[in-house]
Amino acid sequence: MTAKKSSSSSKSPKSSARKTSAIGLDEIQSSELAEKLNDLLANYQIFYMNTRGFHWNIKGEKFFELHLKFEELYNDLILKIDEVAERILTLGYTPMHGFDDYLKTAVVKPAKNVSDGKKAVAAILDTFKVLITKQRILLDLSDVANDEGTNALMSDYIREQEKLVWMYSSFMGS
Ligand SMILES: [Fe+2]
Repeated sequence: MTAKKSSSSSKSPKSSARKTSAIGLDEIQSSELAEKLNDLLANYQIFYMNTRGFHWNIKGEKFFELHLKFEELYNDLILKIDEVAERILTLGYTPMHGFDDYLKTAVVKPAKNVSDGKKAVAAILDTFKVLITKQRILLDLSDVANDEGTNALMSDYIREQEKLVWMYSSFMGS
């Protein structure tokens, strides 16, 4: 009885059996994080293209204000897209890079020919809700995995986007 117990514990203690990546993170957790980051990336890419469309097509008395706001937003999104993709590479995985894959993966749908300012802002608010929710899941997962890099990134994105939600909601008068 005693011999059996000692042989099973020396064989494969759970902690040392798990493989770690080049940056010392658990490989299974890294793979799950990379998959979720790729899903986030796909949603960001559609959001980016939608925001460019809003920037181009907006009409009406708020044109100058919103045209600039949307440019500010898509410039920020392009930076985040690059950071998310490079975080996936840092974790040891390949960032999704085909628009066909983005369209298949993203829950954010392409918004076409939106020229009304309030409709554009409403679509942006809906998208932020999707992104923030996904980022909170990544925040929790990266916390469990001790992945400080992804955790800090998600924490920054959530804080910044929550503030934007407040500002865009104020524009909508709510
Ligand atoms: Fe422009």
